[in-house]
Amino acid sequence: MKNIRTKNSIDLSVEIAGIKMKNPVLAASGTFGYGTEYLPLVPPGLFGAVITKTITLLPRAGNKPPRVYETPGGMLNSIGLANVGAEKFLKEKLPELLSHHPVVIVNIAGNTMEEYVELAGMLKGRPGISGIELNISCPNVKQGGVAFGSDPIQAAKLTTLAKKAADKPLIVKLSPNVADIAAIARAVEQAGADAISLINTLYGMAIDIDKQRPVLGNITGGLSGPAVKPVALYNVFKASRAVKVPVIGLGGIMSSDDAVEFMLAGASAVQIGTASFVDPSAVKEITGGLKDYCLKKGYSKVSQITGKLAV
Ligand SMILES: Cc1cc2nc3c(=O)[nH]c(=O)nc-3n(C[C@H](O)[C@H](O)[C@H](O)COP(=O)(O)O)c2cc1C
Repeated sequence: MKNIRTKNSIDLSVEIAGIKMKNPVLAASGTFGYGTEYLPLVPPGLFGAVITKTITLLPRAGNKPPRVYETPGGMLNSIGLANVGAEKFLKEKLPELLSHHPVVIVNIAGNTMEEYVELAGMLKGRPGISGIELNISCPNVKQGGVAFGSDPIQAAKLTTLAKKAADKPLIVKLSPNVADIAAIARAVEQAGADAISLINTLYGMAIDIDKQRPVLGNITGGLSGPAVKPVALYNVFKASRAVKVPVIGLGGIMSSDDAVEFMLAGASAVQIGTASFVDPSAVKEITGGLKDYCLKKGYSKVSQITGKLAV
């Protein structure tokens, strides 16, 4: 008898850097808190993986308010990596996070390379953490962040050190605020990154014309949401052609059609950030829509879409 494909028979599972996920839709760092804040709104277990808010060695208060501002087609944020610090995260936040979400990736950052290394070491041997996302692309902090991510030599050095210190798959999160994304992607791949994710936010600002002052307390911020999608897609396309490791694409993904675009451009998985602020259950529409697309196009597995773009 002929095998009839149905929506339910579509295989959404993906494996990235050895991390098995039930679907390719991940919660982006900093937009899903510590993974528990959304529980009243979104049933747990819908995401392929949850990526935590960036964790730093010591607690951080973040930048002075206002720290978010809505813009046409997106938002600006200048949170500045506010977080509870590594010790409190591991003791209090992580156990609860793991009780709700099967696949957890911890996003980390430091002011210095030594801090990144120490933090990667603290995560060593911790059961339940599936991977580490190295944030070398935050535009809202004075030290570390995008300073490490915009120079291929520095980015590679930091990746080598973190890889040595870690016992988990290492995903390096790249910034679009660079001259040549392919060069950075190749540099971190050669230094041992198991996967790359991109993009983090673009530099941006807004001005209050009455007060004649910047809107954000930090003066500048990072732009995310639909406004950045074409830029993100370009970077994913360029980076995925420069490396062999899997690429995770993000930046302005609001719908399943957006997610398909990123996968066609070369992404093996996607992350959603700003979309969760607009509709906390956006992940539902996106995973459902990915199945519909596969069914319509005759694919049995979502992973078959990756890189299918004809150019
Ligand atoms: C309020 C806010 C906080 C964020 N915090 C972090 C963070 O702590 N670490 C990080 O790597 N990225 C952070 N990001 C960047 C997002 O993870 C993502 O890279 C970016 O927003 C682009 O995706 P999107 O357009 O789907 O939001 C943050 C973004 C927003 C909007």
